[in-house]
Amino acid sequence: MRRRALPALIACTTLAIPAAAWSATAPADAIKYRKAVMSAMSAHVSAFMLVNFGKVEHQDHLKAHASALADLGAQAKVLFPAGTDKGDTDALPLIWKEQDQFRKLAADLEASSAKLRDAVAANDKPGTMAAFKALGESCKGCHDRYRKADD
Ligand code: HEC
Repeated sequence: MRRRALPALIACTTLAIPAAAWSATAPADAIKYRKAVMSAMSAHVSAFMLVNFGKVEHQDHLKAHASALADLGAQAKVLFPAGTDKGDTDALPLIWKEQDQFRKLAADLEASSAKLRDAVAANDKPGTMAAFKALGESCKGCHDRYRKADD
């Protein structure tokens, strides 16, 4: 048994090396991560619409998409650290020049996605519609000013 513990110990030590590196995130990885979170939000919005507007029948899935949007919406505010303005990114440098205004838009996203989650949980249809509209406006409001337009 003792002998077998050694390779396991080595494996743990090796795994600990990338774990330690996470504390200093490379800007390229931070950019990849924010794109992944943004894409995830987009996928949940698409799925939410298909259910909410009756194109598919999975009403019982609505809560999961709304909750995911609320969780991800709360993350947006930390996805734009300094140093991630350059590289493979469509984020405009204006973000880091207008931090107050940008943070407000990230806060709007957090608030509207939380409202959507709560309205869905309460089975409040008009509230759900209103919150979904506000959520869409918050995505668009930020993209219009702070994301490079499509070529
Ligand atoms: C506070 C500003 C802000 C809000 C709010 C916001 N986004 Fe974004 N989003 C950005 C920026 C900036 C980028 C460009 C990121 C990059 O290329 O590094 C982006 C990129 C994206 C992308 C492209 C990701 C990729 O792979 O290139 C998608 C999709 C997206 N957002 C969806 C959404 C959806 C859906 C919402 C609302 C639920 C939303 N965003 C809300 C700022 C925002």
